[in-house]
Amino acid sequence: TKQTITVIPGDGIGPSIIDSCLKVLDKAGCDFEYEFADAGLAALEKHGELVPEETLKLIEKNKITLKGPLTTPVGEGFTSINVTLRKKFKLYANLRPVLSFKGTRARYENIDILTIRENTEGMYSGLGQTVSEDGSQAEAMSLITREGAERIVTFAYETARKEGRKKVTAVHKANILKSTSGLFLKVAREVGERYPDIESTEMIVDNCCMQLVMNPEQFDVIVTTNLFGDIISDLCAGLVGGLGMAPGANIGKDCAIFEAVHGSAPDIAGKNLANPSSVILASIQMLEYLGMNDKASKIRDAVKDVIESGDRTTRDLGGEHGTTDFTDAVLERL
Ligand code: NAI
Ligand code: MG
Repeated sequence: TKQTITVIPGDGIGPSIIDSCLKVLDKAGCDFEYEFADAGLAALEKHGELVPEETLKLIEKNKITLKGPLTTPVGEGFTSINVTLRKKFKLYANLRPVLSFKGTRARYENIDILTIRENTEGMYSGLGQTVSEDGSQAEAMSLITREGAERIVTFAYETARKEGRKKVTAVHKANILKSTSGLFLKVAREVGERYPDIESTEMIVDNCCMQLVMNPEQFDVIVTTNLFGDIISDLCAGLVGGLGMAPGANIGKDCAIFEAVHGSAPDIAGKNLANPSSVILASIQMLEYLGMNDKASKIRDAVKDVIESGDRTTRDLGGEHGTTDFTDAVLERL
């Protein structure tokens, strides 16, 4: 039977880059069945909710979702849709790979870093958020559990093994955040000992940021807590040419959602300017998750060749072409 995938085109540039991505998957011979679902502003207008029940059901039923960026309306009491989905489906691991291609505006050429971010705990636990009545004091709770830390670090080492990667760096701030980051680091060290075939290193987060900018080639897999992972993975996107080149996978025990890291880009929406690479690279993560490694490499090679040859690249990459031209260039290579 065919693999069915839930597709959420999303808002802003979402529908156009998702369209481009599905054309690429089909051309590569993936033979998927797609079931489309609404979320974000598109859903609010049609169904009066940001994430309709029907969408949640489809995500659960098909297990695999490919998602465009969603606009969360600001200041209207809506919680972030992405946070909602991560919590609802317990998508505890956020994988954000960055790979440098020549021909982008990136400053480096040899980068292949996978940031694995804990996606449900830490500073983003949403717990204990209070502001005192007079507005003079605010609090929030950071939660690290042994179970959560062990799960994400083990996931990082298992992924490293599976992908033939050599080194895992645990990133922390245990010198200051003694309880939370301290527990994370302790667990990371324990787990690291179970993987003698992989080099284990650790780094304090501020130094890590400096090292990533000065000497990024030293990194392979980075595993870290929620807030640090959010920031570091955007830094990594900047190392390889920006958000248009940055995919992400949110993975849990039963479900997985693959998406671009960036948002709906309202400034360029509807202008045929978006770089679809982010979501195409996310679909490559999806193919690898499904064990379809041949198709994944085939598509990655096509994207790489388009970018490195400068054939019809988009503006963010320094080119002069639009989403559809870029997509055509990839399709021709497939
Ligand atoms: P953004 O990521 O949408 O845009 C930031 C900048 O990067 C803009 O200049 C945009 O034009 C550019 N950019 C983004 N993707 C690009 C692509 N594929 N090709 C070329 N240029 C690209 O961030 P912003 O403007 O802060 O957020 C806009 C909306 O997106 C907000 O409503 C926000 O809530 C939402 N958002 C949704 C996310 C998601 O669904 N995963 C993640 C981040 C933001
Ligand atoms: Mg972020």
